Amino acid sequence: MNTLDAIRSRRNVRNYTDQPIGANDLDQILEAARRTPSSMNEQRWDFVVVTDREQLQELSKVWTYAGHVARSAATIVLVAPVADKADVRESIQYDLGQATMSIMLAAADLGIGSGHAAIADQKLIRKLLGVPEDHFGAWLIALGHPAEVPLKPIKELKRRPLDDVVHRGRW
Ligand SMILES: Cc1cc2nc3c(=O)[nH]c(=O)nc-3n(C[C@H](O)[C@H](O)[C@H](O)COP(=O)(O)O)c2cc1C
Repeated sequence: MNTLDAIRSRRNVRNYTDQPIGANDLDQILEAARRTPSSMNEQRWDFVVVTDREQLQELSKVWTYAGHVARSAATIVLVAPVADKADVRESIQYDLGQATMSIMLAAADLGIGSGHAAIADQKLIRKLLGVPEDHFGAWLIALGHPAEVPLKPIKELKRRPLDDVVHRGRW
């Protein structure tokens, strides 16, 4: 798939087949995450990969809307350092957003679906994954082969029209 097709095809996929993600595919997705640009190249992230079914089921309990994690073939947990200053926290979140999109587009390129989930229960994620006290679990990205419709460029996307979101020259 070319890049624009991967962008057009990516959507949140929350139901997956039983097919595991091949080790090479998973490594390519993680390599895409590693290559993500970050503010001052600080790379304030770690990626915990979970593939064990029981662990995935426990992981899905960290947030009300993370049920798809339990069904995923693999979930990547984005872990980042705890920061006191608001501007640093914002900058970390920007970088994590970019890493998220790298992961999702690399997955789409391979025909693998992905789905975001937030993390509310820090105590549980620390217990499940051994995340140290000076780090926190930021986001979950569930991965798996789509159970229903395979990934293909979406024609009618629920998005604001281009003319509404783009301001050419000035607002
Ligand atoms: C920051 C962020 C947090 C999200 N959190 C969740 C979540 O906790 N659970 C979930 O099922 N989807 C979550 N989503 C997915 C969004 O609902 C989804 O991206 C949006 O509705 C657009 O749909 P699409 O990704 O299929 O294009 C999140 C997306 C983003 C960008």
